[in-house]
Amino acid sequence: MQQTQNLGLNKPEYPDVVDIEDLNENMDIIDGKLGTTGHNHNGTAGNGPKISGANIVAPRTDQTQDIGTAKELRWQNYGNNHTIVDASAGAYPGGNANAQSAWTPSCPTLIGYNGVNTYGVRVDSARVADTASAVQWSGISGIPSTFAPNNHTHDDRYYTETEISNLLAAKAPLTSPAFTNTPTAPTAAAGTNSTQIATTAFVKTAVSGAASIVASGTGENYYWRKWSNGDMEIWGTITGTLGSMGTHTSGVTITFPVQFQTACKNVIISQPDWKGENAYIWRVLKNSKSIAGFSVAEDRWDNKGAGNPASADYYAFGN
Ligand SMILES: [Fe+2]
Repeated sequence: MQQTQNLGLNKPEYPDVVDIEDLNENMDIIDGKLGTTGHNHNGTAGNGPKISGANIVAPRTDQTQDIGTAKELRWQNYGNNHTIVDASAGAYPGGNANAQSAWTPSCPTLIGYNGVNTYGVRVDSARVADTASAVQWSGISGIPSTFAPNNHTHDDRYYTETEISNLLAAKAPLTSPAFTNTPTAPTAAAGTNSTQIATTAFVKTAVSGAASIVASGTGENYYWRKWSNGDMEIWGTITGTLGSMGTHTSGVTITFPVQFQTACKNVIISQPDWKGENAYIWRVLKNSKSIAGFSVAEDRWDNKGAGNPASADYYAFGN
């Protein structure tokens, strides 16, 4: 006896004697599948035929045919995990329903989202989105009327590469710049002590309070100079013969090449490097200094060497 392909119902043939058991068996199978237990449409024995996309014919105007929110329809073109989802209830398979946020799920999904943020449809990883080949230039807003070719020039509102290179070449580097002509810089406040640049104005102010030489003179064995603050210096050489400078109480007077204005404050004698019988010391006599000169007295080695030539240098300071 033959049986039906899907539910295995008995099919008595013409020569067969109709057995009431065969009919009851059929009834039980049908009751079992369509009754309380239900059945699947997965194409396996005892179940209904497999339902594919081609079997789904849902009129757009028939609300009863709607797919529930968060239910996925496989997206045939792109294989496993590529589905279409109604995410209007904010439920979606591990994805991001906000098209303005980064899109990172492993299953690119076509979503018509109508939650807090409504962004129509976002298609992720759709192959047509990989290129703009299908987008007409004229269909894009906020763009120039034509697209600039690879090689193009600009009008004189813009610098050319050559102009920029020339301008940069005229700039001093930050490291060890070598300025030419007349570089300037802000003048630091007087008294500034830092790494700031000192301009000539800063330097002039800084040195304006310092004394400068206002007069000087020189001749055989002497030099003198006078400072702007009134100080005066005189260098000179004393010459004579041993025994000619008198005793430590008398001495002889040395006349300055020029006179101090007010007073000679100090005189220092550079003692010569003589020794033995020619050794001697010339000393400035106490209270002998005047604006015109000073007096020198002599001490000698055992009073020997009289008549030998002798000399010493002196420095006098005053005002
Ligand atoms: Fe350009």
